[in-house]
Amino acid sequence: MELNPFSYEFHENPYPVYAWLREHAPLYYNPQLDFYALSRFQDVWSALLDWRTYSSREGVTLERIDTTLFEATPMMIFMDPPKHDRLRRLVSSAFTPRRIAALEPFVRELCEKLLASLRAHGGGDFVSEFAAPLPREVIFTLLGVPSEDRVQLREWMDRALERDPDTPAIPARAIEASMNLIRYWFQLLDTLRRRPNDGLICALFDAEIDTDDGARTRLTDGEIAGFCALLGAAGNETVTRLLGNAAVLFHRHPEAWQLLCQEPQRIPRALEEVLRYWPPSQYQARTVTTDVEWYGTTVPAGARILLLNAAATRDPRAFADPDRFDIERQIPLHLSFGYGIHFCLGASLARLEARVAMEEFARSFPRFEVDEAQCVRAHMSNVHGFDHVPFRATSR
Ligand code: HEM
Repeated sequence: MELNPFSYEFHENPYPVYAWLREHAPLYYNPQLDFYALSRFQDVWSALLDWRTYSSREGVTLERIDTTLFEATPMMIFMDPPKHDRLRRLVSSAFTPRRIAALEPFVRELCEKLLASLRAHGGGDFVSEFAAPLPREVIFTLLGVPSEDRVQLREWMDRALERDPDTPAIPARAIEASMNLIRYWFQLLDTLRRRPNDGLICALFDAEIDTDDGARTRLTDGEIAGFCALLGAAGNETVTRLLGNAAVLFHRHPEAWQLLCQEPQRIPRALEEVLRYWPPSQYQARTVTTDVEWYGTTVPAGARILLLNAAATRDPRAFADPDRFDIERQIPLHLSFGYGIHFCLGASLARLEARVAMEEFARSFPRFEVDEAQCVRAHMSNVHGFDHVPFRATSR
């Protein structure tokens, strides 16, 4: 068996490959693409915690980061401490559970607006008409991005992550979209310095961080643009995939959906199961900083290694009957938001958006079906989810 994160066939159903890896190659090596992979829960978890050995500096997807882009817009997700921690501290106060809880009325109002139009048509495209615009409006409002630019930005973000079948080469359209995004963020910073608003971007203009020699300094425009690019992409992409995955899974499990409609207080736990069962972000790539041994084989310093959280959360060593989708499952720990120092900064926000979205969707569409034959999958290197999920209301 082969693990090729760029294979479109693999994107359809990666789970048989993960099962094989856990059983037969718990340390896997792919000579064509020159990377290693860990797939068992305990292994992925312990590697995620050990940032000294498993560095994020060369990127967190299999494709290494483009150093030109990274120098233009440095992002904390591609950094190790101490710089990572300094940057993270600057924005973490905006994403605490308390600050996020205050957004609930705004998120609910957005859901109601989006669902009104779907209700009027008896259904539509769950992703492009609901799961994509919802996080787009939320994160861009928090950042302070003008409304009229948001649709274009989201299109560029999606395109920047698209990958062609079977190759790690980044397609020209993705590179062009990334360049458009960078240009946009720098222009926006210029505009906002002249006409500030109350978004997070403007708050970063005055923020200060420690330098290596202990002094304090303002962020560069590149660092602020890096935050825009990271928060924009992370805030949009994954929530869209989580919601689309939830719609398809609840269509496949109508009895679970009925239970959630009758007892919506069960929705948060059901969403954790969706995250465990089909994680929107399937792996975190790292670069090994020193020789490490796994299962009798040495992984040499400098090697790339994939920490397959999506395989880990189906590991029977950690979850009973892991291939069963069970909305009542108690999940003490899953790795779908990562773990350790890079644990998802937006986890509270993602959970809020997803819970409110599902509560409102349940009120609008207590019975629905997805046309699975017409669903269109997203093809990105570590994303599991859909670009299109057509659905309609049903009477039974
Ligand atoms: C269901 C939705 C989401 C999923 C599954 C998800 C998943 C993840 C994962 C797996 C990581 C760890 C990456 C690594 O270790 O290399 C991460 C990091 C991150 N996420 Fe999320 N995420 C979601 C939503 C969000 C949202 C809404 C935001 C918006 C603020 C966000 C912002 C971030 C940021 C800034 C990081 C980097 C943190 C750091 O480097 O310290 N995410 N996310």
